[in-house]
Amino acid sequence: MRKTGNVRIGPASQSRTRKGVFLTFEGIEGSGKTTQSQRLATTLRAMGYSVLETREPGGTPVAERIRTLLLENVPKNRKQEILTPECETALVLAARSQHMTHQILPALSKGMIVLCDRFSDSTLAYQGFGRKLDVELLQTFNHFVTQGLDPDLTFLFDLPTTQGLARRARSKHQNRLDRETQAFHRRVRRGFLDLATEHSERIIVINGRNSSDHIALTIENIFTTFLRAKRVSKL
Ligand SMILES: Nc1ncnc2c1ncn2[C@@H]1O[C@H](COP(=O)(O)OP(=O)(O)OP(=O)(O)O)[C@@H](O)[C@H]1O
Ligand SMILES: [Mg+2]
Repeated sequence: MRKTGNVRIGPASQSRTRKGVFLTFEGIEGSGKTTQSQRLATTLRAMGYSVLETREPGGTPVAERIRTLLLENVPKNRKQEILTPECETALVLAARSQHMTHQILPALSKGMIVLCDRFSDSTLAYQGFGRKLDVELLQTFNHFVTQGLDPDLTFLFDLPTTQGLARRARSKHQNRLDRETQAFHRRVRRGFLDLATEHSERIIVINGRNSSDHIALTIENIFTTFLRAKRVSKL
């Protein structure tokens, strides 16, 4: 256990909750996270596993309200109050705290498989690399709200930002981040790839340019092998 100021960082809650499996899906806008999280959830349920499908920011009523604040995009003819990077970070972390306590930790302690569409790596990639805030400080704040819990495994969907944004542009719902510059999205992509290098034991990079079917099969193979190795039981 390490102490940073008043923030206790350590594995205490990790051991408390390790009954279940915590899997996260990360990547730039439009990289395929939601598509693959939903497909894997369907596959795992059909195999008899108990699955919680959730997302960030969000996952609880309060956290979903914070999500709206973070992602809402006012019409172009109306003036939008700019969120400072610090405000954006505080909102993301506040939502994560609610999500951890009320959804993720209880599900893991019941032995469920938790599939989470975005998590802590997104904070480091977007607010750290994208907004250029201090990554070490973000890691400390993140430990504070996650109670020291890291995902067991993370799938990182990687593809050129132009392709991800083109897929997003086909969607009717443009969010606040769709207005960011190409340079911002490139920094975010680079950030994710740096994190994958740093945490190669946890983060698996998936080529997001492949077909949805091909990716779904790859993920299913990797994850079912992981479940067998960990001897995760069906509830
Ligand atoms: N492998 C793929 N090839 C082509 N199109 C895809 C693929 N995967 C997803 N799509 C399509 O791209 C769009 C974005 O996919 P999806 O919503 O899964 O991405 P996302 O990473 O969750 O995006 P966001 O960051 O906006 O939440 C959707 O219209 C989806 O149908
Ligand atoms: Mg999505």
